[in-house]
Amino acid sequence: MQSPTLFEARRVTTETYILPAYLPVPSAGILPVNAFLVKATQPLLVDTGLASLKADFMNTLSQLIHPEDLRWIWLTHVDPDHVGNLVDVLNAAPHAHVITTFLGMGKLGLLQLPLDRIYLLNPGQSMNLGDRIITAIKPPCFDAPETTGLFDHSTQTFFSADCFGALMQTPTETAMEIAPHALREGLVNWSMVDAPWLSMVDHQVFNQALSAVQQLDAEWILSSHLPPAAGMVQALIANLQPARHTTPTPGPDQQAFEQMMGKLMTA
Ligand SMILES: [Fe+2]
Ligand SMILES: [Fe+2]
Repeated sequence: MQSPTLFEARRVTTETYILPAYLPVPSAGILPVNAFLVKATQPLLVDTGLASLKADFMNTLSQLIHPEDLRWIWLTHVDPDHVGNLVDVLNAAPHAHVITTFLGMGKLGLLQLPLDRIYLLNPGQSMNLGDRIITAIKPPCFDAPETTGLFDHSTQTFFSADCFGALMQTPTETAMEIAPHALREGLVNWSMVDAPWLSMVDHQVFNQALSAVQQLDAEWILSSHLPPAAGMVQALIANLQPARHTTPTPGPDQQAFEQMMGKLMTA
């Protein structure tokens, strides 16, 4: 895969859809970059994809739902791979409000979003989408302090933001199709990059955070950076543990980067 690619949207579970994209990462493989749509009574979009895929993203979203019907846009955090098409979605969805935290709102100020389009929800707080309750959950690892995942109580689905992401070699429709050793390696490598502070975290404190995820009793884990995972909470948690014991290495320096790009250009 030479450039970011958005695949066809598909249903994951009841009224829950994935807009699955992949981002090539030189020398490391590919990284899933997912957005999700929950067709609740008050429909909710989770994240807004990559700006480089704007036309494809907006077309795909429009095939799933009339954007004017969208009521909520949940931003797991405001990294570029999560807010890439936020302004376009807001323009197409005049009745939608952005759900984030106070810090997220501050960072979004850089995009000059109107404050009356924002709704603040902190970890532990819930809201009613008409036919279901969702609760904001702090994932056990993250790369931005405003990060909140969410738990949909009606489908037992945990949208885990960057947590449980994995670098991959080839796209798959589900995480269950990834060979266990490849999932472990990809998840450890991603987690070290995304949350290099993991190696500094107290063992007991981290285990408490993992226990909180286990207690959700989630059927589905929908990470922004992993294909949908059903019945895999234990496996994903087990794969996250080794990331704590691995020393993060810096990325390529200029010389290595030039060699990498040279190889790519001649491939
Ligand atoms: Fe992130
Ligand atoms: Fe991300």
